[in-house]
Formats: sequence, structure tokens, C-alpha cells
Amino acid sequence: MSNADSTPSANATCCDPAEFRQGMRRLAAAVCVIATENDAGHRAGLTATAVCSVSATPPTLLVCVNRQNSSCEAIRDAGRFSVNALEQNDRVIAEQFAMPVSAEQKFSQGTWATLQTGAPVLQSAIVAFDCIVANTVDVGTHTIFFGQIAGLRYAEHPGTPLMYAYGEYGSFQTLTTALQLNHFMTPNWEYS
Ligand SMILES: Cc1cc2nc3c(=O)[nH]c(=O)nc-3n(C[C@H](O)[C@H](O)[C@H](O)COP(=O)(O)O)c2cc1C
Repeated sequence: MSNADSTPSANATCCDPAEFRQGMRRLAAAVCVIATENDAGHRAGLTATAVCSVSATPPTLLVCVNRQNSSCEAIRDAGRFSVNALEQNDRVIAEQFAMPVSAEQKFSQGTWATLQTGAPVLQSAIVAFDCIVANTVDVGTHTIFFGQIAGLRYAEHPGTPLMYAYGEYGSFQTLTTALQLNHFMTPNWEYS
């Protein structure tokens, strides 16, 4: 595992951080919980939307974690983490993992198991990726963890994905479903 600092120079900055955050609020994203556990059994986790596919060969994803978050050091220390894509019914889990509360309180929500690496994996996740930290890169305030996928589990009956945009939770629906609902909800009778 190697670590690099790829923080861009201040000269390359094109807008101020507040403007950047305003822009990012419009980027709808799937809500995930990243969870880890070290060899001593200490667990940590956070709600995250900064999750991205990197490569299928070898299967790799990345997550961006603010170094001020206690989970950042915990993931680095454990060398493993899971990425759990939440369904809309697990909004309470998203809220809990976004709060500065103890790991005990966070993991009291939901049912947790393990796959290959020993990182905690959420039973109700739409999909859970079990990862070994393959590389890290520090950029600005965040550490990017590249996770090589050691295991993966799909929900048998996946629910509706939980999303986040405009500073609010929402849910994903296909356009087909949306159009059907719209048709269902639009009155098509005529008044005499
Ligand atoms: C919808 C949502 C998405 C978030 N995405 C991220 C993220 O991608 N990376 C990150 O470091 N923090 C993210 N956060 C903030 C962390 O969840 C929050 O700071 C949490 O309290 C960190 O917990 P910890 O200090 O126990 O690690 C997000 C919060 C919310 C509500």
C-alpha cells in the first residue's frame, strides 16, 4: 500500500469552497455507509456519498473521507472497509452514521455481519462491497481510499436506493415507474 499527497496548488483553484459546495449539492448521489473494524474489534463508520467505481480489473472502488472524521484514521488502521449502499427504508441508519456519536450507537442500528475481510457489512444493504485498502491518496482535506474488492453481497429483494441531493434525502425511481405513477395520479375522466 502506498500513500501520496496529490493536493492541487492554490493557483489551480477556479472558485471558492462555498461555491464548490453549492455546486456539489446539485449532484444527486447514492447514500452509502462505510464501515470498518480493526483487529482489536474496534468499529467505526460514516455516511458517505463520495464513492466511485474505479476499475473492474482488478475490481476496485474509491471512497473519499475527510481526515477530520474519526473513521478516516480507523480505516487506515484497519486496512479494510465495507461500502454499503442504503435503501430508502434505512434512512435512519444514514442519519445515525452522519452524527458524531459513538460506534456503539451507530452500529446499534441495522443487522451487521462480515464477509471476507472482517469489516462489518450491513445485512439490508442493496449491495455491499467488502474491501482491502490497496492505496491511499491525500487531496486537500480528504483521504481517498482505493479499495480492492475481496467480497460482495447483493440483497435478495433490493429496495429503492436512498439518494441525497439539494441537502436532502430522496429516493431513486426509474422513469418508467415515474411515468406510470404520473399516469395513475392524473385524472382522465371528463366533467360534464
Ligand atoms: C448524505 C451525507 C453524505 C456524506 N458524505 C461524506 C463523504 O463522502 N465523506 C466524508 O468524509 N463525510 C461525509 N459525510 C459526513 C460524515 O458522515 C459525518 O461527518 C460523520 O459524522 C463522520 O463520522 P465519524 O467522525 O465517526 O467518522 C456525509 C454526510 C451526509 C449526511
